Amino acid sequence: MRFVDLIDKKAHGNSLTTEEIQQMVTGFVSGEIPDYQMSSMMMAILQRGMTSKETADLTMSMMHSGDVVDLSDLPGIKLDKHSTGGVGDTTTLIVAPLVAACGGTVAKMSGRGLGHTGGTLDKLESIPGTNIEQSMDSFKKIVRENGVAVIGQTGNLVPADKKMYALRDVTATVGCVPLIASSIMSKKLASGSDAIVLDVKTGTGAFMHTKEDAFELAKTMVSIGTHVGRSVRALVTDMNQPLGMKIGNALEVQEAVEVLSGEINEKDPLFEVCMLLGENMLILGNLAKNEEEARKMLIEKIHDGSGLKKLQNMIALEGGDASYLTVENMKKLVSVKQYIDVKSEADGYVVGMNAQAIGTAAQMLGAGRATKEDVIDPSVGMVMKVRCGDRVKSGDTLCTLYVNDDKNVEDVIKMMHEAIHIEKELCEIPPMVYGVVTEKAVNE
Ligand code: URA
Ligand code: CA
Repeated sequence: MRFVDLIDKKAHGNSLTTEEIQQMVTGFVSGEIPDYQMSSMMMAILQRGMTSKETADLTMSMMHSGDVVDLSDLPGIKLDKHSTGGVGDTTTLIVAPLVAACGGTVAKMSGRGLGHTGGTLDKLESIPGTNIEQSMDSFKKIVRENGVAVIGQTGNLVPADKKMYALRDVTATVGCVPLIASSIMSKKLASGSDAIVLDVKTGTGAFMHTKEDAFELAKTMVSIGTHVGRSVRALVTDMNQPLGMKIGNALEVQEAVEVLSGEINEKDPLFEVCMLLGENMLILGNLAKNEEEARKMLIEKIHDGSGLKKLQNMIALEGGDASYLTVENMKKLVSVKQYIDVKSEADGYVVGMNAQAIGTAAQMLGAGRATKEDVIDPSVGMVMKVRCGDRVKSGDTLCTLYVNDDKNVEDVIKMMHEAIHIEKELCEIPPMVYGVVTEKAVNE
């Protein structure tokens, strides 16, 4: 069939067959289908949607557009986690080692940060010596020895996504559930894990601004997994404020070390989301029967120090200096010229935050990239001193900026004042977690 006829078919609300979807993906990657036709098709998909079978077919075609990692020679059920992107979200550095300490196998490929969200690789590289570019052999060797390795993507993973995403970005077709779900899941499936726990964020700092959209994305991704025989669960969690209190690369490594050292209170949102991710990973890995048992195991691995030990070993095996990864030594990871307190100008309650603006402010201090070419300063960022629901008085510190290059400081201070909403009366604070989507049920 001519591709124009397939566009017409989708534009009129009909479903595409497995073969037609394959033809679309291979034709687009090879250059046979030009950008303008693919743009038109993606707009038709955005307008008309896809059935769950079409979305699974699209995901599989995208996954097979490049290398597919084979982890089958590693022992056990290979466990992975993925977050749809947040601010102050340092969960990978906490959950991956904890799950390994509980006996899980975590062979994880992570990405870099872009825009207002941070990336695990940039955080790892803030630890001197750490080399995230490992060969497949050395990646597997580290996993065999230590139960966990987090490295950069190797090889040519899902070239179809790179090309489709670049086009979506400039044709207003990013915000489309089947396209987002296939983009994320094709990469997760290509990186070889058997079981995946997703954290779909919703709120001011997330892709999905409403809870309803976040649940739809979560259900779509779980259904793709079910279609292709992998176990997938998805949490829907809040991104109406940064998840952790520290935002920046070395600063987030510090907070991960603090959690793994038992220094963070168990009611803390970062701690809670880590527990939920870890519980679901242990259940999918057949390492725990239920949430209660899983949580007990995870907490034990914090208290006996074995989770932290897994992180230290992983860094050492990746060539990094693990001696920084203790509560005593981690301060040396951060070296800045100035600390600037941003102070409240009113009495009242913190009723909300614009997490995206806070992430952008951290980026403007040098913690993130506006373009791929930007160089990150691992030390800079900010430490939040308040959370939603807190009472503040005029003059109280809302956050402390960690600054080396002060060229954007005035703008950043202004942005932080705008991003932290203070009102006279306390209103309802959004919950941390909205629910869990499993193969069998949606628990809100
Ligand atoms: N993250 C992805 O990898 N792809 C999307 O389409 C959206 C978020
Ligand atoms: Ca304000």
